Amino acid sequence: MSYNITLIPGDGIGPEVINAAKLVLENCGIGFNWDVVEAGENAIKKYGTPLPQNVIDSINKNKIALKGPVTTPIGTGFKSVNVTLRQIFDLYANVRPVKTFKGIPSRFEDVDLIIVRENSEDLYKGIEHMIGDDAAESIKIITRKASERIADFAFKLSVNEKRKKVTSVHKANIMKCTDGLFINCTRKIAQNYPEIEYEEMIVDAMSMKLVLSPEKYDVLVMPNLYGDILSDLAAGLVGGLGMVPGANIGLDAAIFEPVHGSAPDIAGKNKANPTAAILSAVMMLKYIGEFSAATKIENALRIVLENAKYRTFDLGGNTKTSEFAQAVVENMK
Ligand code: NAI
Ligand code: MG
Repeated sequence: MSYNITLIPGDGIGPEVINAAKLVLENCGIGFNWDVVEAGENAIKKYGTPLPQNVIDSINKNKIALKGPVTTPIGTGFKSVNVTLRQIFDLYANVRPVKTFKGIPSRFEDVDLIIVRENSEDLYKGIEHMIGDDAAESIKIITRKASERIADFAFKLSVNEKRKKVTSVHKANIMKCTDGLFINCTRKIAQNYPEIEYEEMIVDAMSMKLVLSPEKYDVLVMPNLYGDILSDLAAGLVGGLGMVPGANIGLDAAIFEPVHGSAPDIAGKNKANPTAAILSAVMMLKYIGEFSAATKIENALRIVLENAKYRTFDLGGNTKTSEFAQAVVENMK
């Protein structure tokens, strides 16, 4: 059996890390038909838009995409590609597992948490405008429907992954209506899952606790903006942005992509850490039910990460992106 997958290399380090993930996937024993399409800054030059229709058509057809980061054009009037894709395909759940790998230089040894970020609303609806020249307004949208479904997603995920606790992250002490509604919804859904412990945490305190004792947390569910910020924070607990994968999941389609951006500061140098992209590919394999191929890649990746010989620059070494991917492939044989 082979799978039709939409492949979006993206901008900056995107093509480098996505190529690494593609190489690993092509050696895991499963067939893939790649539909390679362009989105982002490069697409603007060629198509006049960062999100050409053929990208949307391709995802519509294949339902699954592996995507590199794209540079968000600022001041061009174009909407964010990521936000638009998430809205078009109603990819309401953004899942970001943050896990320590043995041997990786980081402050903690046993971080193993999953950030479940509501992906469709909050301030990311992008409803904002200027009020004259000297003020601006942005509207935060929180709905019962989106909050209950993300809460249910987080609890179902906890059951499936044999997790013990869900922490609902909010700022309802200040935003009594919006975040108040969000925690009311997570609290309600929690009652359907008595076997999973449930707690609530205000987002500023959560930031402090994650930095102090991340091993105490398991599954974290939160509105869009907090999820964006805390997932980068959490990446810093396990070696950096090069280590954390992500999945945008809807009822009908899913897009897998690393948490990091296009990293223009290191682009084109073959030095980005492709671990996040490779782990995103692993998440994709699990999503399509190819568990043994997923485990094969994970095991090979673990061996390579444990070997101090193969460290990309962000982890203190000088292994190239392509060398790292090749080492993972060698360890899959
Ligand atoms: P960034 O995530 O691209 O980079 C932040 C820092 O982390 C940089 O120092 C970078 O070199 C480092 N870094 C990131 N990924 C790395 C990797 N794989 N290996 C080693 N080091 C890595 O965030 P930044 O600079 O704020 O954003 C750059 C552009 O990316 C912006 O246009 C932003 O909008 C876009 N972006 C796109 C995303 C996406 O398409 N999913 C997600 C986040 C940002
Ligand atoms: Mg982000």
